[in-house]
Parts: sequence; structure tokens; C-alpha cells
Amino acid sequence: MASGVSGGRGHSTCVRIMDQTTFRDFKELIYERSGISLQAGKEAMVSARVAKRLRALGMPDSRTYLQYVRRDKSGEELVQLLNVISTNVTSFFREPDHFDFFSEVISKWSSEGQRRFRFWSAASSTGEEPYTIAMTFLEAVKDAKVDMRILATDISTRVLERCVVGQYEKRSLETVPKALKARYFDKEGRGEDAVYRAKSILKDRIVFKRLNLSKPPFPMKGPLDVVFCRNVMIYFDKEVRKNLLEEISRLLRPGGYLMVGHSENLVGLSMHLEVVRPSIYLKR
Ligand SMILES: C[S@@+](CC[C@H](N)C(=O)[O-])C[C@H]1O[C@@H](n2cnc3c(N)ncnc32)[C@H](O)[C@@H]1O
Repeated sequence: MASGVSGGRGHSTCVRIMDQTTFRDFKELIYERSGISLQAGKEAMVSARVAKRLRALGMPDSRTYLQYVRRDKSGEELVQLLNVISTNVTSFFREPDHFDFFSEVISKWSSEGQRRFRFWSAASSTGEEPYTIAMTFLEAVKDAKVDMRILATDISTRVLERCVVGQYEKRSLETVPKALKARYFDKEGRGEDAVYRAKSILKDRIVFKRLNLSKPPFPMKGPLDVVFCRNVMIYFDKEVRKNLLEEISRLLRPGGYLMVGHSENLVGLSMHLEVVRPSIYLKR
């Protein structure tokens, strides 16, 4: 996974690496419940992440924890496990050419008279992506009468809580142009301790929900105009990706677009999605 071991070096040095059988059992459980395929060689990373839950629960080892997750009928500990396993790296205006393209198409659709817009940030992480979609839209389409909504989903409850709060450190806002920062965020505090909170003009347009992308069909009806499903399919195998793409193309309207991460390739995975430029697909 991209971000390496969460918890930092300090933790990883004192973590006991789990045995192969336990790793295989975690791998199977995680795949079955989230579609995330852990590759061989990730034992140290998984051990370090699971160690966070051992510390929180005061458990002696990962085998005991595995049994605890399996026996927990409420499913709450599974959510906690996925919270520590998932990699949530993101940023405002990440892969900015997507937002240039997005701005062009929504301006065009708006000038053609479209008044209702529906977008989906399918793996929203801590919210930078859906808030960027909202800012880009409001900058491109100045018509106050339009009906625009964004659905932001993720499997991790931990990141969704942060989305809802919509509060970001100064450093995270470095990729947001100054004028947009002033227009769409309230500054709280001073100097290096300052934080920025998304204004209601952004928040009111976004609905945050937990959704597992590896378990279609999803409860939404569509039709959607643009889906951002970026930097999450890299964790899925071909079968999970294929089923997900079929569901996305069901939800997209003809003429709508799908954006995927720059390092993700959909070749041979969907008949209904046509590449228009690298990492941008058109629903036929
Ligand atoms: C690397 S972040 C990408 C965030 C954002 N889309 C971007 O490109 O900046 C990947 C996100 O996918 C989420 N994720 C992983 N497996 C998932 C699943 N099965 N269903 C929904 N979200 C999932 C993780 O919790 C994480 O927040």
C-alpha cells in the first residue's frame, strides 16, 4: 500500500511480525470483507497496523485479535480493523488535470441548460476530494438556481467522521488557491496552529455515507453525471474491479464521465466505458 506503515517508525520497530498462517487468515478476512488484496510481503505493515488495535484493546497477540474480530457479531471490530488497514492518502486538487477537465465539462453542460448535477466521490477518504469537487463546481457554474449534490462514500468510518467535520490543517490547504481558501474556508486560530473549516456553502452540497465498493449492487439509483473513483482500485484484484466498474457504468448516465487514479488502468474491464484521455472514461 502506498503510504507504508501507519503509526510511524517508532511503533513499527517494536511490533512483533505475525506468523504466515495468521497473515494468511487476516488477508482472507480483509479480502472477503473489503475487496482489499494484501500482497505477499505486507506482513510487517499488517502487523504494525493490527498492533494499534491490540494496544487499544489490551490484547496479547494478533491471533487472539483475529478470533475476536471473527466472533464479533456486531461487525464493529471489523470496521475498526478496516479503519487501520486502509490507506487514506489524499489531498485537495490531487491530480489537478481531472479538475480542469471537470470544470470544462460542467461549464459546457451548464451553458447547454443543464440544471441538475449529481456527482459521486466513491472513495472520499478524509474529504479533500469531495470538497475539491464542490469548489470546482461553484467556481465554474455561477448559477444560483442549479441543483447540485455530491455523494461522498468510503469504507472507513474514521475518515468519514473527518469529512463531516471538514476541518483541515494549514499544510493540507497548500494546494488550494488563496482566493478559494478565503471563499470556502473559515480560518480558526493563528499562525502554525491555524485550522481551516469548510464553510456550509460546501458542506451543504455533500452527503457522506459508508459504502463498501467491493459489494455491489449499491443502494443508489443514479443517474450520475461524474464519478470520481480514484486511487482505490489499486487495492482490488481484477474481479472486484470488474464488478465495481459494471456498477459504476450502471449508475452513470450516457455521456457521463468516470475519473480514476493516474496509475489505474481499466483496459479490458468494461465494455461501456470508453477512454477519452488517460484516466478519464466516457459512459457510452
Ligand atoms: C488512497 S485513498 C484515495 C482517496 C481519494 N479518492 C484520492 O484519490 O485522493 C483510498 C480510500 O479508499 C478507501 N477504501 C478502501 N477499500 C474500500 C472499499 N472496499 N470500499 C470503499 N472504500 C474503500 C480507503 O478507506 C481510503 O480512504
